Amino acid sequence: MSKPIFIRNASQLVTLQGSSDAPLVKEAMSELGIIENGSLWLENGVICAVGKDDELFEKYEDRLSEAEIVDASGRLVTPGLVDPHTHLVFAGSRENEFNMRLQGATYMEIMNSGGGIHATTRRTKTASHEELFNESFERLNQFLRHGVTTVEAKSGYGMEWETELKQLEVAKLLNEKHVIDIVPTFMGAHAVPKEYKENPDAFVDLLIGKMIPKVAELGLAEFNDVFCEHGVFTPEQSKRILEAGKRHGLIPKIHADEIEPYEGAELAGEVGAISADHLLRASEKGMKAMAEKGVVGVLLPGTAYFLMAESANGRKMIDLGVPVALSTDCNPGSSPTVSLPFIMNLGCLKMGMTPAEVITAATINAAHAINRGREIGSLEVGKKADITIFNVDNYMKLQYSYGVNHTHTVVKSGKVVVR
Ligand code: NIG
Ligand code: FE
Repeated sequence: MSKPIFIRNASQLVTLQGSSDAPLVKEAMSELGIIENGSLWLENGVICAVGKDDELFEKYEDRLSEAEIVDASGRLVTPGLVDPHTHLVFAGSRENEFNMRLQGATYMEIMNSGGGIHATTRRTKTASHEELFNESFERLNQFLRHGVTTVEAKSGYGMEWETELKQLEVAKLLNEKHVIDIVPTFMGAHAVPKEYKENPDAFVDLLIGKMIPKVAELGLAEFNDVFCEHGVFTPEQSKRILEAGKRHGLIPKIHADEIEPYEGAELAGEVGAISADHLLRASEKGMKAMAEKGVVGVLLPGTAYFLMAESANGRKMIDLGVPVALSTDCNPGSSPTVSLPFIMNLGCLKMGMTPAEVITAATINAAHAINRGREIGSLEVGKKADITIFNVDNYMKLQYSYGVNHTHTVVKSGKVVVR
């Protein structure tokens, strides 16, 4: 049994209290529930008390000598950041494509000529379990150093059974061996393999008939995701894939309207997806459908930045009532970063979100996007003791002072893991 931890006297403690049942929308996204001179008592991996420092001092005075004291004075304390959309488990990198794009080639051109997702698929196929594990483990270390304590991870660099299985098995092992919690998603529908180029429906049949049932049977994923995009999977094919996942207990997610408007946001509403992600080119009708059904909009402004495209309209989505979350989309092609705080800065500067909204988007709303709103994402009694302490004295400064990693201390499941 580890020692209790007493985090004391934060200049601002962002609690986001009262947000466990549903993601926050509209004005509620700005209600951070800040406690000044705030403290937390953590024990057995969970939060036991949240409040003003003098109140908690009085409550735990007799037990101070048993606890590890973390002085947070002059610092900002938030829930551990949650990244709800990553392609964590992959091999290699694609800086050559970055260079090609800088000279005018587009992301889809590169993919359609056999590079892009296909290039990483070739690397991931030939990598051993151990190589994939080691590369991904190091990425998780970097996530942790940026204040992230939970990461969703998609398969999708196989698109045939052995490699999809390998990615999901590595994700499972990472969840066991790394302090970060990994939430797994099956994304066999990430691209159409070239053998199926002439008959993509046969690949959809394979996903539906074989791969989805096996993933579900083995309990290797909670979500089922599809790249619904012109030239990849059509809305009709995406719908079939997502409905098949539902029949096997996999919750739908969707890469929607990333490159071209394609009614992906509308489809997310129709199939009752937990989230629709990207949404750079989502229609107003689609946004309204999402708001109505409570589909979380997972926005990835790092991807837009890296692909030199216009970001999603986060401001409009929030004003229409879409619960918005933020994510890195960490992957080797369109967003090779682990810095969720930098993504939050882009949320402010490229999507018209406020510093308060981006904190909500990277904590509790991100937790809801991966069905973890009751366990993580806010600092409330009974929730998991996942906490990030930043070396700034207020939440606005976290975004204002940009391009700097302000992460000072990270507590994961009640243990100090970064200091
Ligand atoms: O979310 N859009 C599809 N998938 C990823 C990119 C994957 C890759 O380029 O390797 C994304 O942007
Ligand atoms: Fe993605």
